[in-house]
Amino acid sequence: MRLPKPGTIQVVPSILSADFARLADEIAVIESAGVAMVHLDVMDGHFVPNITIGPPVVAKLRQHSTLVFDSHLMISDPAEYAEHFAKAGADHVTFHIEAANKPEELIEELHRLGCSAGICLNPETPVKAIEPVASLCDMILVMTVHPGFGGQEFMPEAAEKIARVREIVGPDVRIEVDGGIDPQTTPTVVRYGADTLVAGNAIFGKPDRIAAIEAIRAAAG
Ligand code: DX5
Ligand code: ZN
Repeated sequence: MRLPKPGTIQVVPSILSADFARLADEIAVIESAGVAMVHLDVMDGHFVPNITIGPPVVAKLRQHSTLVFDSHLMISDPAEYAEHFAKAGADHVTFHIEAANKPEELIEELHRLGCSAGICLNPETPVKAIEPVASLCDMILVMTVHPGFGGQEFMPEAAEKIARVREIVGPDVRIEVDGGIDPQTTPTVVRYGADTLVAGNAIFGKPDRIAAIEAIRAAAG
């Protein structure tokens, strides 16, 4: 599966706030809401102070879903694990610029493995950190919380960086935003130029996931 074409707004549910004991069922529900992508948060207890899922879980989920698997690697050594995620069935792999020694090589490697490639900026990381490689990516991820946990408060000053990223990459690269996205914060990030809206708590924290997805879509205009 490939990323949907740039410019179309995509709401991308993050399973971090889903029921981890029922992941396949949770993904089936969001699939029925017509989303194209699902966001898989991978944490190693080292780059971030939390631990979630690894390639074996991705591989099992792959048997249950045809959605684009958008894997967000919050891990210290993404180059070491890129191939494992690709083989497990990840379609898109995002790594953090703060964790990559040779980002250009890793982007090339992901493309060679048949994945689209993304690079992520923490809230305190300036846009210039990704400037040399931004246009080699298929999607740039701007964090609007400190990575590690769902349900945190949106950081408006981090969202401002989206506008600068859009200037650098132009219209043909997706810009994803992650952290505190809900119907209230969505209009701001869309105005700055984000087209890929990750939401965990605002979807899986609600009893009606489908209505929650529709509320974010409606807020995006
Ligand atoms: C946070 C993760 C996010 C998380 C967002 O470290 O990268 O994807 O699920 O959760 P919400 O939408 O609840 O802020
Ligand atoms: Zn994420």
